[in-house]
Amino acid sequence: AATLRGLAEAKGRYFGTALTRGDLGNGSETSIAGTQFDMVTPGNEMKWDTTEPSNGGYNFGPGDQIVSFAQSHSMRVRGHNLVWHAQLPGWVSGLPLNQVQGVMESHITTEATHYHGKVYAWDVVNEPFNEDGTLRHDVFYNAMGTNYIADALRTAHAADPDAKLYLNDYNIEGQNAKSNGMYSLAQSLLSQGVPLNGIGLESHFIVGQVPSSLQANMQRFAALGLDVAITELDDRIQLPASSSTLQQQATDYGTVVRACLAVSRCVGVSQWGVDDGHSWINGTFPGYGAATMYDGNYQPKPAYNATVTAL
Ligand code: XIL
Repeated sequence: AATLRGLAEAKGRYFGTALTRGDLGNGSETSIAGTQFDMVTPGNEMKWDTTEPSNGGYNFGPGDQIVSFAQSHSMRVRGHNLVWHAQLPGWVSGLPLNQVQGVMESHITTEATHYHGKVYAWDVVNEPFNEDGTLRHDVFYNAMGTNYIADALRTAHAADPDAKLYLNDYNIEGQNAKSNGMYSLAQSLLSQGVPLNGIGLESHFIVGQVPSSLQANMQRFAALGLDVAITELDDRIQLPASSSTLQQQATDYGTVVRACLAVSRCVGVSQWGVDDGHSWINGTFPGYGAATMYDGNYQPKPAYNATVTAL
């Protein structure tokens, strides 16, 4: 039978999923993951609160488990992530500002060196933008200003010159103030020779609300010479889902996949998780769920069939 990964590969793309350590203990999930997908993003295991819970105290065991699952199923890995305001241990956000740059650089160097040769790409900075297109004033910005992003990218490149280096954010899928902010930043970084290779569009959509400017927006980043990727796709439905909302979700998945295929620099699509039963949506957006291509019984939904058709 057709698989997402087989169809994507035939188009020179990948089709990915996110997996957590908990997912690795679920045979239904791992069997779908290893069959249908050829890229894995660790759901939490490479984030700062896991990898460096105390200053200089590193823990790569959980991330290594995800990498080893990926390798044994001939899947590649998107490293996620090196610098982010969330899932950031309190010891970092509480640092005196004059220590933040050194700590950030050490963290990036140590983690990206550990995973050198094992990751296809890194989300070097995750979710740096406010909705109005200005940079969030997190501890990194407060310590270094806008330059923290160039510094993070250069530091990651020195540690792993083979990984594609990304900036990743949500609500930048369509053309709007936030994606304009990302576009200006990308232009400015490239003009300074900063090693930036791609832009990740998370794509946590609400059913029926895929922005009509998705393809044009990806194309404008591609025109800068950057790769683009759909990094965390899901499409949440107000519960209970009905046959009409599931059909709209199928339409949405098809729209997203076709937009990626229409942009030559769109390297692939990753769904955030395998199935509705383990998706992060249920815990994060009360009243919403049913956001993935597989239902709570691990059965493919209309969105799966639409994705196969679009590929
Ligand atoms: C989510 C995980 O799926 C959850 O398990 C965790 O509790 C919170 O983070 N944007 C990102 C991802 O870049 O890292 C987030 O993952 C979802 C939103």
